[in-house]
Amino acid sequence: MKQEIIKLLIEEAAKARNMAYAPYSKYLVGAALVVPSGRIYTGCNVENASYGLSNCAERTAIFKAVSEGQRHIDAIAIVGGPLIPEETDGAFKPSGEYAYPCGACRQVLSEFLPESGDIYIIVANGVDDYKVFTLSELIPYTFN
Ligand code: THU
Repeated sequence: MKQEIIKLLIEEAAKARNMAYAPYSKYLVGAALVVPSGRIYTGCNVENASYGLSNCAERTAIFKAVSEGQRHIDAIAIVGGPLIPEETDGAFKPSGEYAYPCGACRQVLSEFLPESGDIYIIVANGVDDYKVFTLSELIPYTFN
């Protein structure tokens, strides 16, 4: 994975996090994924008063991409953390923790593998504070 793409995805995920609708958990998440053409799709978590209906940032981004015709995902970056009081302008302040994709999002990602056969997952607290995994590391033996 090229570092410039990683940093761009992290920046886009942090921007998407500003759009998070999370009045119940106050845990804001943004995701940005890149498809083989280089196009980037972003998403945020969208919660609901009926808590179980909430949608994760990752699946928001995936469904946006797929609903516009994409079928393969090369990489996805996730930036998440609690809303902190001084975060008045919505600007992301590193929380010191990484937001790993939940099991449901891992399974949904596994539906849209690229030709290489694996998706890079970047969990980040900032452009210089991130970890890179592959989907197969995070969810081996998927149901496909
Ligand atoms: N959430 C995400 O959007 N992505 C993750 O990777 C973990 C959890 C959301 C779901 C819910 O709106 C909030 O974070 C707290 O669980």
